[in-house]
Amino acid sequence: ESLAVYARDWLVRCMEQHRREEIEAAAETGELVRTPFVLALAGGSTPKRLYQLLAELPVGKIDWQQVILIWGDERNVPVDDPQSNYQMVQENLLAHIDIPQENVLGVPTPGGNPKKAAAAYDQLLRERLPSKDGEFPRISCVLLGMGDDVHTASLFPGTAAIHESKSVAVANQVPKLDTWRITLTAPALNAARNVAFLISGAAKQEALAIVWHAPHDPDLYPSQLIRPTNGQLWFLLDEEAIGNTPLP
Ligand code: 6PG
Repeated sequence: ESLAVYARDWLVRCMEQHRREEIEAAAETGELVRTPFVLALAGGSTPKRLYQLLAELPVGKIDWQQVILIWGDERNVPVDDPQSNYQMVQENLLAHIDIPQENVLGVPTPGGNPKKAAAAYDQLLRERLPSKDGEFPRISCVLLGMGDDVHTASLFPGTAAIHESKSVAVANQVPKLDTWRITLTAPALNAARNVAFLISGAAKQEALAIVWHAPHDPDLYPSQLIRPTNGQLWFLLDEEAIGNTPLP
């Protein structure tokens, strides 16, 4: 619970920082340009409680009209499937907040042809998210989980998406799960202003120690790919996930 509370307050601070940066920029240019706060949501189970806490904030604490929600990754299943990350966010967050539907950018038509869904998602993000010419869209904050196999988003060890350098989102075949996923790519994640791993529990201790201290081997340890080019990397952790691991 305390990790979810900490992550909620951290995210609210990130949004307040985004506003401050706009005001500072306006002081320079004399013109206030408001850009949406783009939040990439993690799937899986860890972030559920965080999403519930965000939904329980007093109305107005977060101006959802100024937030665009996207998914860091999605299972290739229809949105009403229990496996769907969209479904998990719908249940724990979307159903409880007043956010314009057009601000919610889920993966289009998941559950069919994964490559078509990924291409449609890639195009949607390029069209809707702020970006400079020819650059990756600038996500304000990416929330990431991490598996005990050191995967993040749907960048699993030994899978093709690890090497993707051009697309914002791709389909990724995951033999270990005998499934296809749609995932943001490492360069898309690394173009973000803030990237935060939200990791809880002793089962993740070894994976976290690998990310912090093992030699760089992204094929084996995809979470090691996450190094924002011009942004900050955060680890939002509980004691169980840290264990006795020395800080990086
Ligand atoms: C997913 C996630 C995945 C998840 C990790 C951790 O679609 O499952 O994007 O990367 O964040 O597997 O999952 P838990 O939070 O359930 O441990």
